[in-house]
This record gives sequence, structure tokens and C-alpha cells, in this order.
Amino acid sequence: MAIYLDHAATTPLRPELIEGYLAQLQVLGNPSSVHGAGQRARMAVEDARDQVAKAVDCHRSEVLFTSGGTESNNLAIKGLYLAAKAQDSERNVVITAGTEHHAGIDPVEWLETSEGAEAVWLPVSPTGVIDLAWLDTYLSKNAQRVALISLMWVNNETGLITPVSKVTEIANRYEIPVHSDAVAAFGHIPISFKDSGLKTMAISGHKFGAPVGVGAVIVARDAKVAVTSHGGGQERGIRSGTLSSPLAYALGKAAALAAEELPEIRNRVSEFAQDISRGILEIAPDAIFTRGEEPGYEGIIHFTFPGCSGDSLLYLLDAAGVCVSTGSACRAGVAQPSHVLMAMGRTEDQARGSLRISLGQSTTRADVDALLAAFPMAYAGAHRAGLPGN
Ligand SMILES: Cc1ncc(COP(=O)(O)O)c(C=O)c1O
Repeated sequence: MAIYLDHAATTPLRPELIEGYLAQLQVLGNPSSVHGAGQRARMAVEDARDQVAKAVDCHRSEVLFTSGGTESNNLAIKGLYLAAKAQDSERNVVITAGTEHHAGIDPVEWLETSEGAEAVWLPVSPTGVIDLAWLDTYLSKNAQRVALISLMWVNNETGLITPVSKVTEIANRYEIPVHSDAVAAFGHIPISFKDSGLKTMAISGHKFGAPVGVGAVIVARDAKVAVTSHGGGQERGIRSGTLSSPLAYALGKAAALAAEELPEIRNRVSEFAQDISRGILEIAPDAIFTRGEEPGYEGIIHFTFPGCSGDSLLYLLDAAGVCVSTGSACRAGVAQPSHVLMAMGRTEDQARGSLRISLGQSTTRADVDALLAAFPMAYAGAHRAGLPGN
């Protein structure tokens, strides 16, 4: 069995939900049908809605089931933008950052090319921290032109935590809605939608033990969100399409487990992460911990290794049976330096030398030991190979 240390890409299914999920797969009934079979399927969906609402701390009516993080971000970002623009055609600015996941950046770029939006990219520091003073000053002069702000809660490559409530505190002075991609945050750090000041938020099941293909967009009851996906009018009309009761069941159960066990899992993950960082720095003393001393989710460990290719490290570790990543899985296989590191001002060579090790609920001490045992050979090999083209 391979040692799996790529939980930021996807996580193993929680064993606790498999039996119920399989049973739910055999339940016949469309949750929108009025007969008994439909109502039984509906009950599973509504129980799951309660569980997700409790786990993210929001009202049950604010939970809209989707297929995952990408769809949730698209529905929220495009929906908030089009609603603001419909009210006031001068409002066409979307404030975001170059360090967002592509599921956050690409909807904004689509709004630019197709809907007359203007993207304003927040300055970020070399450790990835957004410039809140810049945001404050920008809004004091341009607030009436801003349709929304979209900023992720935890960066999926570096683990950096965005101070979401500081962003909403500034934005709320000007009544500007804020969306957050919480895909890399929920299940790993404490989240309260109610206290966050956000209007919309995205979560994705496969990042916390549910199957791939289910997630939720949390939409505040007072949020103005235009409908961008049309059909049967399910999920407050914002996300049409027949609901999957098995997937909703799995999302609800995984969310409840993740929230319940968060303190215990986070403690364990933090301890393992410290040991990994210490071990790596003993082997590669010039490695740079990407988010520096900034607050971050401990389970995402991201280093850059000067003079080394992250791809070489990844392949050599993989050959030794250890799965890690160079960054976002969505871009894996595409020979490009990480756009996140480039947005943080790294050179292409620096960005190419990056490695992400991400831990989760199922990570064990034996996984940590296996990584640290395989690392010296992989590092020596990657160092000898150097950077392509150099
Ligand atoms: C921060 C972040 N946002 C969005 C996504 C996309 O989520 P999904 O795979 O559920 O579409 C991911 C997945 O890698 C992610 O890490």
C-alpha cells in the first residue's frame, strides 16, 4: 500500500459512512417526488442538510448541495456579480487574488471576458498574505464600483489562512458581499459561516472524507445571488438538478464527523507536521517553508528546495511508494510553475522547486516515518538532477 500524503488533493472515504452510503444507493426515489419513495429519499437529503448546517454553523436553508468546490465557486462568484451588476450597472469590479485556486480565478476571468467585469488583484506578500490596508484604501475610493470580493479561506497549496473576518469587517462597511472558497479550510480549521460575515462560501466533500462529486455552496439568506444554472428550480432555484440522496447522505455524515473530531485530528496532524518539517530541514537545510511564520493550516506542509525540481522529488518519492504533490492536482501533469507561487513573487525556478505534503484524518505515525525514510534518497537524486534547462 502506498503512503498517501496528498490529502489536499483528495481524501480517503471515511469508513464510517460507507455502509450507509451503499444502503442509500439502493433507495429508489427522486427527492422532489411527492410519493412515499420520493419522500424517503428527501428525508435523507434533509437530514444531511441539517448535519452540514451544524458543521459549518449556518441555517439549514443556507446549505445548497452541489457537485463540489468548482461548481460552488462558479454559482457564488457569477451569481453575486450578476446580481450586483443588475442592480447597478456601474458595479463591475471583482476583487480577488492571484493566489486563489483556478476554481476561483477562472470564473472571475470569464466574467471579465463575457460580462464586462474588471478584476482587481490584491497585492500579496512573499508569504502569500493579502494586503488588507491596500483593500481598505481601495474601497474607500472605489467601493461604489465593487460587485464582490472573493478570497479563499485556506490556500490549498501553501496552507496559509486568510483572515476572513478582517476582510468582511472592511467589506461590510461598504455593504460589499464577500465569497470565500473554504474547500481547503472546512474540516481542518474551525469555521463558522454565521460569524464569518460572508455572503457565500464553498465546500467540497472529497476534501474531508465524502466521495468525489458532492459539495455545497452556503448562501446567506439575505445574499443577492443571480441564477446562472437553469432547470428544475431545486436548491432555492440557485442549483437546479435532481438531488442525489446517497451523495447528500455521505456529505452530511462526513461533515458531522469532520466537525466533531476536528480538535483531536488537528492536534495529531500538527504534531506529525512539525516532525515532518523538522526532518526535512535536517536533510535539506536550505529548504524554505513557503508560508514562513504566517498562520496556516498545519496539515499542508509546503517547501521550496533551491536548485531542485519539485517534479523530480515527486517522482522519486512516488517510486519509493510515497504520494505527495508539487501543488494543485488540477494542474498536475501540466509543466507549468505554480501560479500561486508566481503570484507570491517567486521566480519560475523557485516555483518549480516546490513540494506539498498534505496530511489528514487517516495519516499515521508510520506514514510520517516512511516519508522521512524515503526523503534523503529522493532529495539527493533530485538535487543531482537539478532544474530542467539549467
Ligand atoms: C481550494 C480549492 N478550491 C476548489 C477546488 C475544487 O474543488 P472540486 O474538486 O470539489 O471541484 C479545490 C480542489 O482541489 C481546492 O483545493
